[in-house]
Amino acid sequence: MVHHKVLVTGANGQLGRALVTEFSDEYEVIGITRKDADITDKTEISRVISRHRPRYVLHTAAFTNVDRCEIEPEKAALVNSVGTENIALACKSVNAKLIYFSTDYVFDGTKSRAYLETDRTNPVNVYGRSKLDGESKCLSSWADTVIIRIGWIYSETGSNFLKKILAAAKRKVETAKATGEKPVLKVVTDQIGTPTCAKDIATQTRKLIEKNVSGIYHIASYPEVSRFEFARAILAAMLPEVTIEPGDSDEHPAEAKRPPRSSLSCEKLESENFSMMRPWKESLDEFLKLHGKQILNEI
Ligand SMILES: NC(=O)c1ccc[n+]([C@@H]2O[C@H](COP(=O)([O-])OP(=O)(O)OC[C@H]3O[C@@H](n4cnc5c(N)ncnc54)[C@H](OP(=O)(O)O)[C@@H]3O)[C@@H](O)[C@H]2O)c1
Repeated sequence: MVHHKVLVTGANGQLGRALVTEFSDEYEVIGITRKDADITDKTEISRVISRHRPRYVLHTAAFTNVDRCEIEPEKAALVNSVGTENIALACKSVNAKLIYFSTDYVFDGTKSRAYLETDRTNPVNVYGRSKLDGESKCLSSWADTVIIRIGWIYSETGSNFLKKILAAAKRKVETAKATGEKPVLKVVTDQIGTPTCAKDIATQTRKLIEKNVSGIYHIASYPEVSRFEFARAILAAMLPEVTIEPGDSDEHPAEAKRPPRSSLSCEKLESENFSMMRPWKESLDEFLKLHGKQILNEI
């Protein structure tokens, strides 16, 4: 069997780590971090990719802090758009297939059902615009590109909604112990999406690569769910003593506007006979059994 080389950018990130693990059994995996090459440095990134000459480049590196992107729009454009173009051009020079991970935030969230790959994009924040620019840069720079849109990722490493909810709830429990009051956490009901475990995205990505697809694909668990319902499931499993109350985004001012409903549909995957993604609840339960206690200890 031929052991193809796979190069993963952002190898210390949530998805980067999951991809390195997923591909390590039968592929030769090179995980690169900012220390190995800053993607905004065209010469450096070209040198690293030319040296390794991978068959596939899984490009996850990005400026992912949605609120910071509003404050630093030039950096968002530089990393997510120019950096991605640098990667695409380097892939072209060694004939490597490029898999670019994009986001549900390329949509404005006004559609009444989950987004298809063919739906009109219209980002409402700087992050979404910079990632959409990244998509355009890939498609215009290198023909052998696959764009995979994902949303609401969680994993045991890095920063994500699941860990923020557990950290906030743990603080509430500690405060409640001191004050004798009931621990209560408010979570927004007006943001709806498709939370997906990084490991599940990595598994499905591998299937897409092994079928040699091209074009745009959405990868997400189902069905769609509000932040409130997702948080309720997390707390029911990990900190059931915390009461969760519904809130809305106006009560939690943030730098970046969020699309109210950015759920991604996997109809295309299913129509092409890829195995279904797992329901988010099944993945979450498995994830919390494996990592929940450790996360609670560490946060
Ligand atoms: N998280 C989500 O819910 C979500 C949703 C939709 C789409 N996505 C997309 O999915 C991909 C993976 O997301 P993630 O959550 O795994 O991201 P992450 O955990 O924030 O990891 C991103 C990685 O990129 C690296 N990076 C940032 N700027 C860089 C630069 N200039 N040069 C080299 N490396 C750089 C970061 O390194 P440092 O730690 O050194 O900064 C980090 O390791 C991203 O493209 C993101 O836009 C994420």
